[in-house]
Amino acid sequence: MTYPGAAFPQARPRRLRRTPALRRLVEETRIAPADLILPMFVKEGLTEPRPIDSLPGVVQHSRESLRKAAVEAVRAGVGGLMLFGVPVGRDELGSAGCDPEGVLNVAIRDVVAEVGDATVVMSDLCLDEFTSHGHCGVLAADGGVDNDATLAHYGEIAVAQAAAGAHVLGPSGMMDGQVAAVRRALDAAGFADVSILAYAAKYASAFYGPFRDAVESPLQGDRRTYQQDPANVREALREVALDVAEGADLVMVKPALPYLDVVAAVRQAVDLPVAAYQVSGEYAMIEAAAGKGWLDRDRAILETLTSIRRAGAQNVLTYWAVEAATLLRHRY
Ligand code: PBG
Repeated sequence: MTYPGAAFPQARPRRLRRTPALRRLVEETRIAPADLILPMFVKEGLTEPRPIDSLPGVVQHSRESLRKAAVEAVRAGVGGLMLFGVPVGRDELGSAGCDPEGVLNVAIRDVVAEVGDATVVMSDLCLDEFTSHGHCGVLAADGGVDNDATLAHYGEIAVAQAAAGAHVLGPSGMMDGQVAAVRRALDAAGFADVSILAYAAKYASAFYGPFRDAVESPLQGDRRTYQQDPANVREALREVALDVAEGADLVMVKPALPYLDVVAAVRQAVDLPVAAYQVSGEYAMIEAAAGKGWLDRDRAILETLTSIRRAGAQNVLTYWAVEAATLLRHRY
């Protein structure tokens, strides 16, 4: 049989698409629940979980609901949890970040007490959730973010989070030298075995909008003096190379879907595990369109996760981690 215009009459790619079983057999990219990391928010003082308008289906947890949700995520086989804290009070220096009784450090202890080593407990290591101005660092006299003064704070927060029991710390502030500063502080405090997931290539993105609602960010202005320009990919490779040299154990690209070329380039450039963060705005876009009946939600979720995986990310941080894990189980 030939078909019109065929240079190779035997080439019929559709043969392998004929049945679901054939398609499954030749599937190049698979995602396992263990590849997925669930970001979770915990708010100080809550007694009940509180929904987040711009992230339908995601909540600010109370201490108790966080523990329950962590157990549920472990049951679903999720590979890791990334914890974010929302404090009641904020100050110029973000001091709640390194207070052992600060909301995030308490949450880390709670979750570790609940799930132990059954999954990987990670914590966001940044100042923005804790500062009254909402920036990821402390401010210099001129109002700009003071890189090196911020590093000292990151070191203290790192030690507090490690002491609380986190397995992996995720410095997300895009300060120069942050991985080295965190590594040095951890090693000096006897936490040489705590890993660093470096937010290596993090862009100044419009897709973080709903996250800022989730953490009730007071930020005015933007983060363009420290997060990357969306136009740049070579710069991402420089950032990643620095983080690797500074001792990162895993590297991350963020956001994910608008930056698949960056994910692919980073995968090519390094041997470390590469993660990508499917951020709040990526989640909200699909939820909003699906809510209007404009696209098939479950298919869209799996398609985006598959694409991020195909581009070269081994791990994906996604607010759908538990649900996607369940969808994936039914699939295979
Ligand atoms: C900063 C931080 C942000 C996100 C994760 N860590 C926000 C920002 O950089 O403004 C965004 C995550 C998301 O949008 O889902 N600590």
